[in-house]
Amino acid sequence: MADKRDAGLDAFKTNQEVKTIDTKRVLRVGIIGTGWIAGAHMSQYVKMPDVKIVAAADLVPGKAEEFMKKWGIEDCNFYPSHKEMLDNEELDAVSVCTYNCTHAECTIYALEKGVNVLLEKPMCVTTEEAVEICRAEKKSGKILSIGFQPRCDENMKMVKKIVQSGELGQIYYIQTGGGRRKGIPTPFGTTFIEEISAGIGALGDIGCYSLDMVLNAIGYPKPLTVTGYKSAFFGKDPNYFTAQGKPAEYADLFGVDDFGAGFIRLEGGIILDFRIAWAMHLDTPGDTIIMGTKGSLRIPSTDCWNGSIGGPLKIYHEVAGSSVCTEIPMFASDNDKNFYNKLRGFLDAIKEGGQAPVPAREILYNQAIIDGIVQSSKLGHEIEINIPEI
Ligand SMILES: NC(=O)c1ccc[n+]([C@@H]2O[C@H](COP(=O)([O-])OP(=O)(O)OC[C@H]3O[C@@H](n4cnc5c(N)ncnc54)[C@H](O)[C@@H]3O)[C@@H](O)[C@H]2O)c1
Repeated sequence: MADKRDAGLDAFKTNQEVKTIDTKRVLRVGIIGTGWIAGAHMSQYVKMPDVKIVAAADLVPGKAEEFMKKWGIEDCNFYPSHKEMLDNEELDAVSVCTYNCTHAECTIYALEKGVNVLLEKPMCVTTEEAVEICRAEKKSGKILSIGFQPRCDENMKMVKKIVQSGELGQIYYIQTGGGRRKGIPTPFGTTFIEEISAGIGALGDIGCYSLDMVLNAIGYPKPLTVTGYKSAFFGKDPNYFTAQGKPAEYADLFGVDDFGAGFIRLEGGIILDFRIAWAMHLDTPGDTIIMGTKGSLRIPSTDCWNGSIGGPLKIYHEVAGSSVCTEIPMFASDNDKNFYNKLRGFLDAIKEGGQAPVPAREILYNQAIIDGIVQSSKLGHEIEINIPEI
């Protein structure tokens, strides 16, 4: 009897779901942009017996060729940009792994060519681009999924389960965000910090994860108004020392935010209080809290925020008139498995005709909040968020 009970608890901790892959239909996949994140996609695609990598494109001459050589991929065609690749190849799917500023053009062109798209986060840079992406998706009838691997994490799924169960009652206030004491992502180049390639900084890079964690849990209500602030005191400081203990070399190139904050009103009367930092003189800007009329949930943050949960979830509620705190046991977290499932979910949706695992119509609201913060910060006052019909 005891054994049976323990097995049940173990299942709670691992929660492995093994799905058989149908190899009768092999998908022809192309990679657009062969930088760091493309490597993370490749490390999963090569495990999948129903995927054939047939094409790759990069703006940097020779980069795609070198990249595929490293992955041991033969019979692959190479192109100098997404456009030539999509004009010349018959593809089932592409991974859009370019920097933020080309997310929209690559995704829209692929959808117009009838190709399913797995688009890396953040969705894009502006709300207008996000609207155009959603319109192209609707017109194409193809699958478009946005690359939020934290959604595949079992602890993250538990956040949503708790909120959706009604355990917290009516949600009225949420505080979320995250931070890094020294986490401006320059060691691998400058595409994350230059306005021409990134467009947005910490807000898009890691802010989108915090927003998705809470908005996904509460069912992605529409954002109505935003009061935003952004700054770049650390990134633009030539005397700033990087995490590697070296003086920052890129202060003159830094063209995005390294800190952002926003006060957002959501449909349904929910208030969202958000802050995000790539650099700060602080350990953490705080845990995520979701406050409800029957209980509140604390989601511990991590030192270096990247969308993973830093410790057991805690529910503060009343039991028989007493104020108690219930700690939820953590599932084992596995980022490699999360990445695998992010890609697998997308491919399965193509093959089975299902819904995109992370739908663009949801992330449109995530993007509208980020862009709302940028626009409100420029204007110095609150703005209304108006999203046109898709
Ligand atoms: N999900 C995650 O955990 C995660 C992690 C890192 C980065 N990312 C996201 O992935 C994206 C890329 O990040 P990265 O670190 O790989 O950047 P990167 O700069 O290393 O690589 C981007 C590549 O895209 C190429 N490119 C740009 N426009 C192109 C076009 N039109 N056609 C073909 N190639 C094009 C560039 O030449 C470059 O080689 C960013 O948006 C980032 O936010 C996601």
